Amino acid sequence: MHGFHKRTLDDRIKIVANACNLDADDIKTLTTPNPKNYDTYVENVIGTFTLPMGVSTNFKINSRNYLIPMVTEEPSVIAAASAGAKAVQQKEGIMATSYDSHLTGQIQIIKPRHDADVKIKDRIDEIKTAINTFLSKRMKIKDVTYETLDLVPAMSKLEIVVDTGDAMGANAINTVCEGIAPLIEEITGGRVLLRILSNAMPRIAHAKASFDVKEDVGNDIVLAYKFAEADQKRAVTHNKGIMNGIDAVANATGQDTRAIEAAAHMYACKNGRYSSLSEWKMHNGRLYGELRMPLSIGVVGGMTKHHKTATVALKMLGYPDAEKLAEIMVSVGLCQNFSALRALSTDGIQKGHMKLHARRQQS
Ligand code: MEV
Repeated sequence: MHGFHKRTLDDRIKIVANACNLDADDIKTLTTPNPKNYDTYVENVIGTFTLPMGVSTNFKINSRNYLIPMVTEEPSVIAAASAGAKAVQQKEGIMATSYDSHLTGQIQIIKPRHDADVKIKDRIDEIKTAINTFLSKRMKIKDVTYETLDLVPAMSKLEIVVDTGDAMGANAINTVCEGIAPLIEEITGGRVLLRILSNAMPRIAHAKASFDVKEDVGNDIVLAYKFAEADQKRAVTHNKGIMNGIDAVANATGQDTRAIEAAAHMYACKNGRYSSLSEWKMHNGRLYGELRMPLSIGVVGGMTKHHKTATVALKMLGYPDAEKLAEIMVSVGLCQNFSALRALSTDGIQKGHMKLHARRQQS
């Protein structure tokens, strides 16, 4: 992939098609959007709004090499992700994991009877059976909890946690919440109001890597990270840089970027104050970075099934399951963050940015 960015568009397509086994139909999908396909996606369609898809190079995640499709309007993002991945100590590459593909549904109950908690406990098997009637076999109930809220008028919530497997699961959870609402009203004696999933804390993904930088640059990257850790205004921008990479892969693979963003920023407050999603430290003269964050994603159903370009993007990644896709995305976020911090703590970002900007003006 050396010099990939200097190749012509046609050459780049050929190289990627070859590396990722894309056929003529896949290439046509990537290069010729068809507004007619989108008529049934949303309401009142009049056309499409096209964004470029690029590929990030140099990624080695859990010993496997990837070309990563990214859809973004922002110059430098794809170059920065690739440069960050190139700086990873190649022997180990990036190590990534993801776990707990759990989605929570919430049912809000107004003025429940005072002993509703006992009634729920008594009929928990019946509630679980009702939930299962709305779930596919691949989805498993992990937990059902009931909690009284300290509010006036009296209010409580029932939460249903489901392992959604390879699906993001939003539709399934909303169907469950609406479907069991009458039963919950009958058991609690209250009035059910909201019946909706929570975007908090779905699958958690983690990536770590050691990066090849001079010791003084590494030390400055750690200082830059400490600024984000301590200062909320800086943390927002620091995390925005991480999301540049995450959202670009999310766009390419047909994910719900708003769900991902909402969960990420809640997670950034997990210690009671908004802070950095990533952590950086120097150890024995080497720079280590880690990123842990929720990633509400799926590879079955939704856009991943209907959007042809998203399907080609998933093919480029070797049809990952949801766990692997989360690992890829969190790795991109980590490399993106590394490159932003390296640029900011050395030359600044404007030099590279303006070069790309000039290229755009010329075209
Ligand atoms: C720009 O889109 C992202 C950065 O501002 C991120 C950061 O400041 O860490 C460069």
